Amino acid sequence: MIQLKTIDLKTTPVEALIIPVCEDKEIHNLRKISTLIKKVKDLNEFTGKKDDLVTLYNLPGIKAERVIYCGLGKIDAINIETLRSVAGKAIKESIKKKLSNILIAAPVGQNITRGIKADTHSILNALLEGAYLGNHIFDKYKKEKKLKPVKEINLLVKPDIANQFKKLPAKVETLCQGTILAREWISTPPNDKRPEQFTESIVAHAEKTNLKIDILDEIQLKQKKFGALLAVAEGSTSKPSLICLEYSPKNPQKTIVLVGKGVTFDSGGINLKPVGSLEDMKMDMSGAAAVAATMITIAKLKPKVKVVGVIPVVENMPSGRAARPGDIVKSYSGTTIEIGNTDAEGRLILIDAISYSIEKYKPQTIIDIATLTGACVVALGEQIAGVFASDDDLAEKILQSGQDTNERCWRLPLPDDYQKLLKSDFADLQNISSSRWGGAITAAMFLKEFTEKVEWAHIDIAGPAYIKKATEYCGPGGTGFGVRLFCTLLEKYI
Ligand code: BES
Ligand code: ZN
Ligand code: ZN
Repeated sequence: MIQLKTIDLKTTPVEALIIPVCEDKEIHNLRKISTLIKKVKDLNEFTGKKDDLVTLYNLPGIKAERVIYCGLGKIDAINIETLRSVAGKAIKESIKKKLSNILIAAPVGQNITRGIKADTHSILNALLEGAYLGNHIFDKYKKEKKLKPVKEINLLVKPDIANQFKKLPAKVETLCQGTILAREWISTPPNDKRPEQFTESIVAHAEKTNLKIDILDEIQLKQKKFGALLAVAEGSTSKPSLICLEYSPKNPQKTIVLVGKGVTFDSGGINLKPVGSLEDMKMDMSGAAAVAATMITIAKLKPKVKVVGVIPVVENMPSGRAARPGDIVKSYSGTTIEIGNTDAEGRLILIDAISYSIEKYKPQTIIDIATLTGACVVALGEQIAGVFASDDDLAEKILQSGQDTNERCWRLPLPDDYQKLLKSDFADLQNISSSRWGGAITAAMFLKEFTEKVEWAHIDIAGPAYIKKATEYCGPGGTGFGVRLFCTLLEKYI
């Protein structure tokens, strides 16, 4: 569906040739493309300014029906993300024009990569990613599918490049399919992904791989005394589960556990959320989606380390059976917790999953990912995830992976003296802080209490997991934040 190709523009028909154009430098090394750029620039209507777009039809000397020129801006400001975005934008334009077969001229080759300050691999990778992700449309719930994805996308490159990077498109496709799987789970409405259904869907996808699948159902969770997790699930008529997906390569050097928050709908429970905060709370399983999709993706990518995805799945609802503010529950680890607020449910399910993971899998590293706090969105906005880590090296690796994939992360502190804010008069701990401020930090401090000195990081994705407005290569809804980051981390840095 997406490929690197060498095509003779003079003889091969395509519906659209897409040319990314730099404002102040030549970035293409195919003579025909340079001539086509000169042609449009001579018209003085299009200079290659960032986000400008112009279409010319039936140009002589080529068999493309139209040429879509996309502005990249000035060379000094172009980076890998500019390329991901321009590819996404080009795909969106093609979808709008109802095209099914397009060719994107890739700005790679001698002298070019030096100008853009990135290697050929990164440039091609970014264009392929932007195009593939931008081609995803979530319209399952619409009767009329007005827009259709582009059927055939090719990147135009010289034969030596096509040959050198022939494995790249399939690899990008695998990563993007994982991201899209997470996006679709997140965007699915909460009535169609109640805990049993979401669990079944994860299992159905995992069964197509060679991952080992272990599910703890409600009965087993009760037997094993997952007191904190069960307290959150109580209010719902749907039954919770803990999903464990295991990827084991031969002779792994270490084991990494990924834990993802899977609240299929967060009403707040008895501390019911107000209007305005409820409507998108189907996204509160984005951490679970990221972990499950990562596991399914790495089953194909096959990194060298052992990875276990541990996913607690619940629905947080108010009812006559729901946990109350003031309730004291006993976590899997034996620590008692006073529930100060039933809306701080994510940390309750995560700690039981963390304690169980440490006991069962004895990992060297544990990373959790969760739409955990509104406070993190206040601190970093909607585009950047908060990263907390017990170890500088692990934090650095996560930040670097996020930079590679443009899933942006920012490290926040874990100050020891904040721990006292979680004290309870009646239990070992309280699930909320006694201070109004620093909620993202105190939530992370709460999790840290249960990590038993295992190297650990926590990624709060309450901001970037979900968007209301489309971006260049993501429609409204789930973003799949975390999947590409985790896969990069596991393949490249750990
Ligand atoms: N799921 C929410 C966090 C959230 C908020 C995610 C906004 C995405 C967007 C979480 O369970 C929650 O409600 N947290 C509370 C904690 C508070 C009660 C201590 C919050 O952030 O207000
Ligand atoms: Zn909540
Ligand atoms: Zn929540």
